[in-house]
Amino acid sequence: MFGVMNDSNSFRGRSLTAAGDWSVEEQRYLYEKTRLLKQAWLMNDTETLDTFRIQAPKELSVWLMFLEPSTRTKESFRNAANFHNVQLNVFDAATSSISKKSESLLDTVKMLYGYSQRSIFIVRTKMEGVCLALAERLADYADRLGRERPSFLNAGDGRHEHPTQEFLDEFTFLEQLQWRTDEIHIALIGDLLHGRTVHSKADGLRVFQKVIVDMVAPPELAMPQNYVSRMEENGFEIRTYPSIQTYLAAGKVSSIWYFTRLQLERMGDEIRDREVELRKAVTFHDPQWMKLLPDGTKFYHPLPRHRERPVIPNFLDQTPLNGWDKQSGNGYFTRIIELALVAGQIGQDFSGEGGRQIGKPKHLRTLSIEDIAKSKEIKMKEYITEIPVKHTTRIEDQWKVGIKPVDDGLVIDHIAKGKTLEQIWDRIDKVRRILEFSVRGSHGVFHSNLPKVTNGETNGAKKQKVFKGIMSLPDINSITQTQLKKLAAASPGCTVNLIANQSVRKKYRLQMPPRIYNFSEISCKNPECVTARQAYQNVPPHFYRTEGETFTCLYCGRRHEYTEIWDL
Ligand code: NCD
Repeated sequence: MFGVMNDSNSFRGRSLTAAGDWSVEEQRYLYEKTRLLKQAWLMNDTETLDTFRIQAPKELSVWLMFLEPSTRTKESFRNAANFHNVQLNVFDAATSSISKKSESLLDTVKMLYGYSQRSIFIVRTKMEGVCLALAERLADYADRLGRERPSFLNAGDGRHEHPTQEFLDEFTFLEQLQWRTDEIHIALIGDLLHGRTVHSKADGLRVFQKVIVDMVAPPELAMPQNYVSRMEENGFEIRTYPSIQTYLAAGKVSSIWYFTRLQLERMGDEIRDREVELRKAVTFHDPQWMKLLPDGTKFYHPLPRHRERPVIPNFLDQTPLNGWDKQSGNGYFTRIIELALVAGQIGQDFSGEGGRQIGKPKHLRTLSIEDIAKSKEIKMKEYITEIPVKHTTRIEDQWKVGIKPVDDGLVIDHIAKGKTLEQIWDRIDKVRRILEFSVRGSHGVFHSNLPKVTNGETNGAKKQKVFKGIMSLPDINSITQTQLKKLAAASPGCTVNLIANQSVRKKYRLQMPPRIYNFSEISCKNPECVTARQAYQNVPPHFYRTEGETFTCLYCGRRHEYTEIWDL
C-alpha cells in the first residue's frame, strides 16, 4: 500500500530547496548524526551503520536528475543511495523529452513519481528555484491522489544555492573546529558572484553563534547584494577585500579559507575577457604567503579545480593546508544522512524547532471556500485600511486645483509622495495602466502640504518641497479588491477616495503588502529564474517583502526594488 505521512517525524517527506529550509537545530541534528555515522564507518562498526540504513528500501526510488554536469554531487549521492540499497534511477537528461521534446520538468517529474511508492528527487539544473516549484506542485498533486509527498533535494540550481554542498561544508568546518559552535571566522575567496556554494553560506553559517565573513573577490566577482543583505540580517560581520594580496596585507586573517573556481560557463563576455587578471586576484600563487597564515589553517574548495589554472595551485596539495580532500569525502556521509532523514529512517528523536514545510498544510485543504476568503481578508487588512469618513466629508480643495474637479468618481491621492518628479510621473502612468479604467480623467503632480523638513546644515528651518501625484477618474464609483491589492503593491502610501455628490464616501489608505503574487503584470527580473516566461515551466511569480522597499523572489531569491517587479 502507499505510505502515509508519519507526522511524528518532521524530516520525513521534507525537501531541501535552499540551506535556509532546515532550521539551525535541524542542521545541527544532521551534523551530529553524520558524526556518528562517519565514526562507525571508520571503525567498520556494521551494527551501528545498519541503524542508519533505510528499511524497506525497494519501495523507495532515488532519482538522480542532473541536467547540468556533475561529478562529486552525483557520485556521492549515487553511493549514498547504494549504502541504503534503495532503487537508484539515473535520469538520462541528454536523451530525455525535456531536452529533445520540450517537455516541462513538472510533467516529467509527475510521471516519474508514479513509478514508485515513495520517491526522492535529487535535481540539478540551471533553472533557479526549480526544486521549490517542483516540491510545491508535487505536494499538491500527491495530496490530491492521497499519496505520500515526494522529497526534492536541490543539487545546485544555477547561481542560486547548493544546500547539500553547504551541509557537507559546514560539517567539515565543525570537524576542524572540534564541534565548537560559538564562533567561526571564514574567508570566502573566488567567484562569489556565480558560485552557488558560497550563496548557501548566508544561511548555512547560522549554525555558529558568531560569524565573521571575509569576502575576497574583485568587484566584478563580488557577492550579490541579496546574499550580503541576508548575511547582515543573520547578524554576520562582513569584511571585503579585492584580492588575496590585500587581504593578507590587512592582517586579521582567517584560518578557514573557502575557495571557489571561476565559473566561466556562467560569465558574460565582458567578465570572461578579463579572466587572467580576475583569476590572479583570487589565486594563492605565491608560496611566500603561506608564512602569513595562522597556525592550523585549512583550505577548502567545493571542487572541481581548473586543471591548468587552479585557484588553489597544486604545490599546496601535499601541505597541511589541504582540507579539500577530506571535505569532498564528507559529501558521502552527509548525503547518506540526508537520505535517511527525508526517508524517515532517522529523525524520530529530534525535538528542536522545525524548519520550512513546503506545500499547503493538509488542514488548510479541508477549509471551506468561505474560510479561505475570510483568512485572506484578514491578511489584506494589514495593508489596506478603510478610513472611516463622515457623511459630510467634503472633497479636498486641492483636488480641484489644476485638475478637473470630480463631483462623482475616484480620486487617488499621495501617489509616490516624496519621490522625484520623474518618479511621480512614472508612477502615475503605472497606476493608470494597472487600474485599466476606460475613462481618461486627469492627473498631475502637486505640492504636498505635509512635512516641513528642517535642514540642519543651513541656518534655521527651511521648507523643503515635497511633491505627490493625484489622479481623478470621474464617474468611477467602485473599485475591486484586486485593484486595491494591485494599487497597494504598485503605489504604497497612496489613498483611494470614492466620491459621490461632492463628498467622500469611502476612503482607503494603502500600504506595502507583505507579499506580491497572483498578478499577470509582475515578473522576476532574473532570466534564469524558474518563473521566467522563457523557461515555460508555468510557475507564477511570487515575491515576499524584505528589508526596506525590496521584494525577494520566493524561488530564486533575487531581490528587487518594488517598482522593478512590474512589467508596465
Ligand atoms: C560546485 C557546484 O557545482 O556548484 N561543485 C560541486 O557541487 N562540488 C562548485 C562548482 O561547480 O564550481
